[in-house]
Amino acid sequence: MDKVFQKRRAKLMSQMGEGSLALIPSAPISIRNGDVTYPYRQDSDFYYLTGFTAPEALLVLMPGRAEGEFVLLLPERDPKIERWEGPMVGLEKAKTEFGANESFDINHMNTLLPQWFETAQKIYFPAGSMPELDEQVHDWWRAAHAHTEQVSATECFVNLDILLHRMRLIKDETEIECLRQASAITAKAHSRGMRRCESGCWEYQLEGEYLHEMMQHGCRDVAYPSIVAGGSNACVLHYITNNQKLKAGDLVLVDAGAEYNHYAADVTRTYPVNGEFSEAQRKVYEIVLAAQLAGIDAVKPGATWEVVNGIVNKVLTEGLIELGLLEGNVDALVQAEAYKPFYMHRAGHWLGLDVHDVGPYQENKQPIKFEPGMVLTVEPGLYLGTDVPAPWQNIGIRIEDDVLVTETGYEVLSHAAPKTIDEIEACMKSESFLCKN
Ligand code: GLY
Ligand code: MN
Ligand code: MN
Repeated sequence: MDKVFQKRRAKLMSQMGEGSLALIPSAPISIRNGDVTYPYRQDSDFYYLTGFTAPEALLVLMPGRAEGEFVLLLPERDPKIERWEGPMVGLEKAKTEFGANESFDINHMNTLLPQWFETAQKIYFPAGSMPELDEQVHDWWRAAHAHTEQVSATECFVNLDILLHRMRLIKDETEIECLRQASAITAKAHSRGMRRCESGCWEYQLEGEYLHEMMQHGCRDVAYPSIVAGGSNACVLHYITNNQKLKAGDLVLVDAGAEYNHYAADVTRTYPVNGEFSEAQRKVYEIVLAAQLAGIDAVKPGATWEVVNGIVNKVLTEGLIELGLLEGNVDALVQAEAYKPFYMHRAGHWLGLDVHDVGPYQENKQPIKFEPGMVLTVEPGLYLGTDVPAPWQNIGIRIEDDVLVTETGYEVLSHAAPKTIDEIEACMKSESFLCKN
């Protein structure tokens, strides 16, 4: 039984206070088509607090409760289901393996929840994100208070996300290790992708090289659908169809991330399909790289997203002036967001169990300050489509790394993925898939 989940529950409950109750449902099973379901992935909050990966369960935390604080509702074992779908956790293992103080059949939830609601002074749940849960919670509340004097639900219901997602923003040692692994494996996948990339191959074939490398290193899945975008496809920011042929002379942008023990990597590299950057591609690449390195270098405790965004915006704008795509005073152009037609997203986001991880970006109307244990991406790009002079047309470049905030600055978790022009060209020529040291 893993102490780390217990520690997280204890920390959350200490902030909720006695006499309160928190509810988190497992992720729903999603139908793909007919009788086929999508691969099951546990809800990140549920996993964070339990390590439990099966569906159709409900986590209930009740700090200070005499019969136990940690309760799991889940399906009873059923040999007929087990024959088709494999071993179920069941009520007993919920206690012995996952450390629940009590476990109940999920079919009894409509009796149990109203009982617990009767005495709960505060009810925390992920409000507003799952309409079915909102409805259930209101039903249980009405059942609990049907015979008592009027108690106001609005005073009692609290959005759990605020406490829990603030906690998830600072990663513990176990999480950092998982993120380190996810990033390192993704770096290997980029190295393999560069080595295997050939003109004439389909984007999805290159995607297959990434999947292969990730699976060979212990990742069952990706953290999000990979973007493998040749030539002008790189200018479509969420391109995931990946069904075009790669052409010599084009760049290919690959945004891919392995999921390791439920933790996401999110790493982008852009490289020439035929292994050598053209002069124009080189010029644009160096600008994006300079912006990315400067953005990463600004990461340290006390810095903010505003600082990182400001630096990235400035370096990209200077570059756009050099390319002749913008004209005027750098600061005025940055102020006017003149870079927006060529760079339309922000410099990065939090990273963790979710690729766009939870956690606030502002607190008390102030930008949140970076602290050791936060993990984020830094990912500037330039997307030059067809509205630019000929040499720059269809050059779409993003460079993205995963960065841990440390006591003194930062650590780039995905550092092993080749990134400079020399490193990329050397990797693409080499016979081995080795990463940088
Ligand atoms: N892969 C999504 C992103 O880079 O944010
Ligand atoms: Mn990405
Ligand atoms: Mn990202």
